[in-house]
Amino acid sequence: MYPSSIRERVLKFFVKKYGNAPEYLVRAPGRVNLIGEHTDYNYGYVLPLAIDYAVWIAFSHIPEPEVHLHSIDFDQSVIVPLNQTLTKGEGWSEYLKGLINIFKHSNFEIFGWKGVMSGNVPIGAGLSSSAALSLALTKSFGTVSNWKWNPTKMAKICQLAENEWVGVNCGIMDQMISALGQKGHLLLIDCRDLKTTPVPLPKGVRVVILDTGTRRGLVNSAYNERRNQCESVASYFGGKSLRDVSYKQLIKAKNKIDPIQFRRARHVIKENERVLDCSESLRLGNLDHVGELMNASHISLRDDFEVSSEALDLMVESAIKIPGCYGARMTGAGFGGCAVALVETKHTENFVKNLLNSYHISIGNKALIYVCNASEGTSIYTKNEFTVQ
Ligand code: GLA
Repeated sequence: MYPSSIRERVLKFFVKKYGNAPEYLVRAPGRVNLIGEHTDYNYGYVLPLAIDYAVWIAFSHIPEPEVHLHSIDFDQSVIVPLNQTLTKGEGWSEYLKGLINIFKHSNFEIFGWKGVMSGNVPIGAGLSSSAALSLALTKSFGTVSNWKWNPTKMAKICQLAENEWVGVNCGIMDQMISALGQKGHLLLIDCRDLKTTPVPLPKGVRVVILDTGTRRGLVNSAYNERRNQCESVASYFGGKSLRDVSYKQLIKAKNKIDPIQFRRARHVIKENERVLDCSESLRLGNLDHVGELMNASHISLRDDFEVSSEALDLMVESAIKIPGCYGARMTGAGFGGCAVALVETKHTENFVKNLLNSYHISIGNKALIYVCNASEGTSIYTKNEFTVQ
């Protein structure tokens, strides 16, 4: 479960490594998406929340044009120059290099810093550990370099670095929610104009993350393939994205579109409707309907978009049978990783026990369950806001 000591761990390590307290501490959260999957790169709607699992960096200015960063989790230190051409390599420091490259090309003035980093967002589980890392790094640069912090602009920069340097053609959801999350709220994001609307998480329910314990390779190529299929349908209708295509138009053209592409587009168009319906139902406290929408989203991702997996299907099927569960669905890119459930608070403990049992019996894999809180987005703490023990 959540080791609340990560903050203390990076602070202590910094003091041990550099002999004095850091000037700043940054926290950038991972996320879970309640509904709105594979809609962001189609300029549609998503409804994620920032979670209480995050990447933390303790850091201070340095006069040299360099970043000295130690990762406690990987037990590795890197030194990356800010005024030299960087070359691509492998590992977590690619996120740092990709960002430096984008900052330079976008004419951001950047200064050097030294830091210590650690996090507890499970890696490769579909909870956006990479967006959390990118936002934490960007906030560190922004702080030492005195930028005016515009979270939406920063989310776009992080997305660009991931697209161009790391080579993942992701949408904007993960970076937006890590930058802009609000405590106790989900965020309805319109991925076309990047307008955000906070939606309070109703009292009496918990968002529960259900990690299948499975991780799948080749996610990137399958992801990019889905993206291309969606874009083909959009261009058939003469538009830039599926956001411009109505369900009626799609149905009318059914016989003229490749059947696989038709199903991909049907998922996206219907999923956008479900997101809007879901945020309205959350406001009205109609949680039964929220649950129905989550279940429908899963079926659509399984059958039309084909990004679920046996483990995810079993997890969702097991979850929705347990008393107190309003609904469940796979979350994130898919093919493995996590599902998400909405559970009545008073049933949460039993839900977790029951689910661990039934999932283990049906698949033999050990599930990990996180009952999470909606947390605030990327935040910075200055010296007088923390003490190092
Ligand atoms: C990944 C991507 C996001 C989004 C989801 C699917 O998390 O990083 O941009 O496309 O998959 O909804």
